[in-house]
Amino acid sequence: MAGAGSSPLSPRWTAIWCLFAVLCSLFTTGVAVKENDFKKCHQSGFCKRNRAYADNAITLGSEWQAPYKIPSELASFKDGQFQATILKTIDDQGNTVRLPLTVSFLKSGTARVTVDEQKRQEKDIDLRHNSGARKERYNEAEDWSIVGGLDVDTTAKVSHESKTGIKIQYGPDFAFEADITYEPYSIQFKRDGVTQIKFNDRGLMNMEHWRPKIEKPVPEKKEGEEGGEEGGEKGQEEKKEETPEVPASEDESTWWEETFGGNTDSKPRGPESVALDITFVGYEHVYGIPEHAGPLSLKQTRGGEGNYEEPYRLYNADVFEYVLDSPMTLYGAIPFMQAQRKDSTVGVFWLNAAETWIDITKAKESKNPLALGITAKTNTHTHWISESGLMDAFVFLGPTPRDISKTYAELTGATAMPQEFSIGYHQCRWNYVSDDDVKEVDRKMDRYNIPYDVIWLDIEYTDDKKYFTWDGDMFKDPISIGQHLDAHGRKLVTIIDPHIKNTGGYHVSDELKSNSLAVKNKDGNDFDGWCWPGSSLWIDAFNPAAIKWWSSLFNYDKFKGTMENTWIWNDMNEPSVFNGPEVTMPKDNLHHGGWEHRDVHNVNGMTFHNATFEALLSRKKGELRRPFVLTRSFFAGSQRLGAMWTGDNQASWEHLGAAVPMILAQGISGFPFSGADVGGFFGNPELELQSRWYQAGAFYPFFRGHAHIDARRREPFLLAEPYRSIITSALRLRYSLLPAWYTAFYHANRDGSPIIRPMYWTHPSEEGGFDIDDQFFVGSTGLLVKPVIEKDKTTADIYIPDDEVYYDYFSYKKLPTSKGKHLTVEAPIETIPLLMRGGHIFPRRDTPRRSSQLMKFDDYTLVVAVGKNGQAEGELYVDDGDSFDYEKGQYIHRKFKLEGSTLASTDAEGRDTKSVKEGEWLKRMRDVAVDKIIVIGAPSSWASLKQVSIESGGKKTSASIDYYKADGSRAAFAIVKRVGAGIGADWTITFA
Ligand code: GLC
Repeated sequence: MAGAGSSPLSPRWTAIWCLFAVLCSLFTTGVAVKENDFKKCHQSGFCKRNRAYADNAITLGSEWQAPYKIPSELASFKDGQFQATILKTIDDQGNTVRLPLTVSFLKSGTARVTVDEQKRQEKDIDLRHNSGARKERYNEAEDWSIVGGLDVDTTAKVSHESKTGIKIQYGPDFAFEADITYEPYSIQFKRDGVTQIKFNDRGLMNMEHWRPKIEKPVPEKKEGEEGGEEGGEKGQEEKKEETPEVPASEDESTWWEETFGGNTDSKPRGPESVALDITFVGYEHVYGIPEHAGPLSLKQTRGGEGNYEEPYRLYNADVFEYVLDSPMTLYGAIPFMQAQRKDSTVGVFWLNAAETWIDITKAKESKNPLALGITAKTNTHTHWISESGLMDAFVFLGPTPRDISKTYAELTGATAMPQEFSIGYHQCRWNYVSDDDVKEVDRKMDRYNIPYDVIWLDIEYTDDKKYFTWDGDMFKDPISIGQHLDAHGRKLVTIIDPHIKNTGGYHVSDELKSNSLAVKNKDGNDFDGWCWPGSSLWIDAFNPAAIKWWSSLFNYDKFKGTMENTWIWNDMNEPSVFNGPEVTMPKDNLHHGGWEHRDVHNVNGMTFHNATFEALLSRKKGELRRPFVLTRSFFAGSQRLGAMWTGDNQASWEHLGAAVPMILAQGISGFPFSGADVGGFFGNPELELQSRWYQAGAFYPFFRGHAHIDARRREPFLLAEPYRSIITSALRLRYSLLPAWYTAFYHANRDGSPIIRPMYWTHPSEEGGFDIDDQFFVGSTGLLVKPVIEKDKTTADIYIPDDEVYYDYFSYKKLPTSKGKHLTVEAPIETIPLLMRGGHIFPRRDTPRRSSQLMKFDDYTLVVAVGKNGQAEGELYVDDGDSFDYEKGQYIHRKFKLEGSTLASTDAEGRDTKSVKEGEWLKRMRDVAVDKIIVIGAPSSWASLKQVSIESGGKKTSASIDYYKADGSRAAFAIVKRVGAGIGADWTITFA
């Protein structure tokens, strides 16, 4: 009812109606807004042109003449490198441009194919608008991404050469071959004589060469016509009508300028995209190219039932409330794809930091009528399209997923050994609002015996979003927080974003400006944009001087309120610019060295992450510890710098389900230290959802609960029973398995292997597992997890990839499994579907404590899941979890093996550990022992044993053993108690 004096037409009512109308329109466009803020391929000039180019070539079929060729006299091979000039024919008169090509054969067996453009290389071009940008194609992506593995294999040899092409053998036992055809230019990569990967086989290669802009009279606008605004497309369509003879692939309307969402990109270098078709011959599955919210096995992108209409896009962006099952871009980009068929894995790394689109189609090869009984194989065709830069691609020929992970890690580096605490549980929300709030959360976690390692402070801790400062009213004594947490070995993470409030009297902003270390706009002035603090500047972390300056800001005496247990969270580093095109920086902004933002966009987040990583290495003279920095944006190589999370998800079952495929994709793409906001960032999870999310999160490599500022408080201790206990159990499970997790991180660090592993990676012969992405193994522990991701679901169907024996983790039931079939297990709300694969041994620490640091010198439990053949094997890697002393041999790395009636522990690397000079940590570890050994599937011959004998360092001792006979489906098991053998020592236990 309207109140007195306010008729429906009064100004007050009008205002309310207007507000209502605005809210309604926001609501109805709610879902669409996010998608429409970001370009589709047809709204991105170079993507549209290249798709049209592809359509044209495919439609013409055999009549299509790809315009790229190598004159044989311009080709040579020497010392592991093939060098040539590709000529691109650019008109009917036969004029050409020169594109220098290098194919390098690397010692690792990887081949690298790089194409540049001579004219730009020689800076022989004119820039428009008096631009201060560089003239070359961006050639520094490798400086950020690649850290090794570039040594050329000078033994690579020519096996055949003629006027029409060359064949080069390389790789292990010369089993690999690059077969280069000169006209049209194309390459086939073969392994053991069989073609695996083809470059430019479909003739879609396109390198948009430099050309001067030919000014044409601007067509007069009809009255009321805006022309060229909004989304580019309208403008393009209109112009196209005027010049109907121009094929869409040569559509000039977006060569020189492009407008989207009201922002115009001035494009001083004109069109310069690079594109190439890459075919995986006989491969039906392709994986990788994160970050996208979709299935692990990538979908086709050219329409058709169940397929996407849009290419996968890589253009790091702050996508608010992202949509699921979509090829849309997200926060990070790793342009690395691998292809899988039975018993073979190959891959391609497209090293380009500019906006990139990837089309995927699959086609059955036409069946040879003579090849009776042989089914036609499927080829996966991909089409890679980047806006600028070199064409630079690495080819990996496997043949196993492990080979691919390893050779990729040789190039881009492996996961950094983490701070040990960082693999525990992190408690975050936007925001804990004061000193007292933080301490109270900490106390409550203790009161309810909930383990955790880190509490986080989001942006509200700062004074007015000025990083490196504190809100003095709410955080009066931040050091007291650090000390309070330290009492139980806990840590504090504070957020530091790359946007710096543009305001006088704030030392960070003043220094940034006076030292000229900010990103510049196209005119060369400091770029000012809008982010959390309002008007902001961005540190240009490409600049070594900026990195140095940034490092100084983190010194304990500079960033007051921080101490040894403070670590850092880097967010918004895509970079997120609220008023920029697609919520990021204009592409014609300029970075250090004169590179346009367009060239470096996807690597930008990594440079900021790197600057913070560097900063944490030098907070105090003489202090050298492993940094912990979480990042939202990333590129190939970011795994060397810390952890990532999947950004702003939602408290919904669908988002819970989307997280595991995304984390698996990260893992196989070389950046496995990853997780998703547990509980969901936006919204309020119902209790069942929150519980299931913690159960899943306990198996994310990075495990953090986080919530939006508008979400209700949901720390585990706040929840009603039984949910509090359910979540506490999930957390305890994580903590007891920390030694196994740490060992999995060690493997990631050594050879790039994923921490959680999808079925195709562990079982590349089993085609039934190739598109399974909702279950995984943890490292090499044999632990197989299938999180429950559906409401009211109390069972789980687990795909069993082999004919090993599988036991239930909790009940020790021997499960009625069968290779290639799904097994249904009970999974009521308090249970995580978790199996132990026979044949593995994994380490645990079973005493529940408040934090990982308090467990540092606890004794271990070894869990032995006896395999079908009566044997089992496993590993433990442990070091001080904090320093770099492991590089000097300060670590324990054991191999455990059960064979017949003996279980032995030996050094996993065959080292003579006695010769290692023991530092402080190793000395303390001398007192740490194996306390308990649980043998599941223990042989019945042990049933009468009361004691086992232990031999270590020439000394003989014994321990008691309890044997439990098989009971129904429950396997027989034995527990050896108070073993007492040193965790770092050689020992043998005899079960006889
Ligand atoms: C971004 C982050 C989110 C954070 C918020 C405030 O949305 O993705 O995790 O809480 O910014 O800093």
